[in-house]
Amino acid sequence: MTATTIGVIAIKGGVGKTTTASNLAAILANDFKKKVLVVDANFSAPNLSFHLGENAPSDTIHDVLTDKVKIQDAIREHEKGGFAYIPGALTKGYLYPFKLKKKLEAVKTDYDYIVLDSSPTMNEELVSAMVASDKLLVVTTPDYPTLSATLHAVRVAKDKKTPIVGLILNKTRGKHFELHVEEIENATQTPVLAVLPDDLRILEALANAVPASLYAPLADAVVEYRKLAAALVGQEYEDPRFLSRVKNLFRTEMPKEEVNRILLRKGFL
Ligand SMILES: Nc1ncnc2c1ncn2[C@@H]1O[C@H](COP(=O)(O)OP(=O)(O)OP(=O)(O)O)[C@@H](O)[C@H]1O
Ligand SMILES: [Mg+2]
Repeated sequence: MTATTIGVIAIKGGVGKTTTASNLAAILANDFKKKVLVVDANFSAPNLSFHLGENAPSDTIHDVLTDKVKIQDAIREHEKGGFAYIPGALTKGYLYPFKLKKKLEAVKTDYDYIVLDSSPTMNEELVSAMVASDKLLVVTTPDYPTLSATLHAVRVAKDKKTPIVGLILNKTRGKHFELHVEEIENATQTPVLAVLPDDLRILEALANAVPASLYAPLADAVVEYRKLAAALVGQEYEDPRFLSRVKNLFRTEMPKEEVNRILLRKGFL
């Protein structure tokens, strides 16, 4: 086995990178039985540990990148999640971000997927996560400032030659003034693979320091993450919720993101 490294990126703070990285890791592990490692590559402002319930971690990615600790010794298993992770240090000094790719190579054969949470700032940290990734997911929200940041991310990824699998449109509220999937796809020339509602249960899960997929497995946002994970691993997934199944029976058009997931699952993206 050799891991596929998926970088979860955005050149924008607070859009949902860490939420996406931690939920994808938990879902790939629990629902799709994959061996998963998630790494905090947001070196200047690490926050993965808050999402996973570990306070003041030691033996962190910072220690790995400064050669103080072997990467194998910084990996821990999440208590409830069934996946492994490496947190960042909350008190940090200088590290060497570009060592990330080489360090990860030492454990690539131990996992099916390595998920990288990344920095919101266009700096060498973000670039180090991009070049360490085999493919990227870009998190965005339905507003113009974030769209502009997403266009920037798409350009930088092209420049670094790391393919973008697609966009994750997060925190949608179904309001008429929000940007639509088609507008975002047209502007970025990149497929939207998941549309996640702004969902209080995501915030509740964070307050409980556990990925939402474990806290509220049938929340709309979690089901959407599961559909995305299924497409990434090439499997089919059906929404188990009765009401959603009934709604699907009566819909006249398949949402664009669902079409994109089918294309991804079949290997066309
Ligand atoms: N779909 C959602 N619905 C409601 N709240 C959300 C959703 N996604 C993320 N959030 C909340 O938004 C906040 C920011 O999310 P997150 O930490 O994942 O963003 P980030 O992009 O990693 O931020 P940073 O750039 O600071 O690392 C958190 O409080 C999180 O719980
Ligand atoms: Mg984050």
